[in-house]
Amino acid sequence: MRKAPAPARKTRSSVGLKIFMAVTGILLVLFLYLHMAGNLKIFFGGTTFDHYAAWLRTIGEPLLPKTWYLYLQRTVLTVAVLGHIVAATILARRAAKARPVKYAHRPKVQGSYAARTMRWGGVIILLFVIFHILDLTTGTLNPVGDKAHPYGNVVADFAPHRWYVTLFYALAIIAVGFHLRHGLFSAARTLGQQSARGEKSIKTAALALSLILVIGYLSVPFAVLTGIVK
Ligand code: HEM
Repeated sequence: MRKAPAPARKTRSSVGLKIFMAVTGILLVLFLYLHMAGNLKIFFGGTTFDHYAAWLRTIGEPLLPKTWYLYLQRTVLTVAVLGHIVAATILARRAAKARPVKYAHRPKVQGSYAARTMRWGGVIILLFVIFHILDLTTGTLNPVGDKAHPYGNVVADFAPHRWYVTLFYALAIIAVGFHLRHGLFSAARTLGQQSARGEKSIKTAALALSLILVIGYLSVPFAVLTGIVK
């Protein structure tokens, strides 16, 4: 069998990588929506919120032993995040190689602007997730850090005197929103949306889905900051 010429193989594998990015991205968005729904339980009080967190550890019982589902989910999410980053890096390198000589005056094309925002947004989100896990999952960086009572950890986290923590969370959540808006749009394109009319609807849907997420997530720290949740 004759081998396909190298550029054609590369194009095919780039499409494969884009599909991989779209699929892992959608998986992460699903997690983000479920996590947001769980976080909103904070408005139903400490008992409900802590009960919900305890329930997370029992999903799959009695088929699975306690916390196994949680670890399964953690494994899938970690693989998805790492895979998403590796695929993005390979695609970015290929794009840079395709233009070895830089533009003398970088034209303000939408593509390169979006690519840079996605890159830096991705880095901010990754740093945030590392901080967030040390803060609210392990409790290491949390002023209370009581694993059995996450409600108290969240309330302590966003106390008014810790405004810098709230600010960091707010910036990271906004970065998630921007990342998602462009990511969802790109994923739809990769997975087959090509028409001009569809493009408009996808843009609107991506914006709406990102806004819902940003508002849902931001509502928790601001509710604590303003004393609605205490
Ligand atoms: C104000 C917004 C947020 C709040 C109040 C919040 C709250 C929490 C809490 C309480 C936990 C610990 C759950 C438990 O162990 O029972 C947690 C875990 C986690 N959160 Fe968030 N979160 C927020 C935003 C985010 C965002 C924007 C992301 C992703 C970009 C994220 C990703 C995660 C991950 C990956 C975990 C670890 C899940 C696990 O233990 O397997 N969170 N969050």
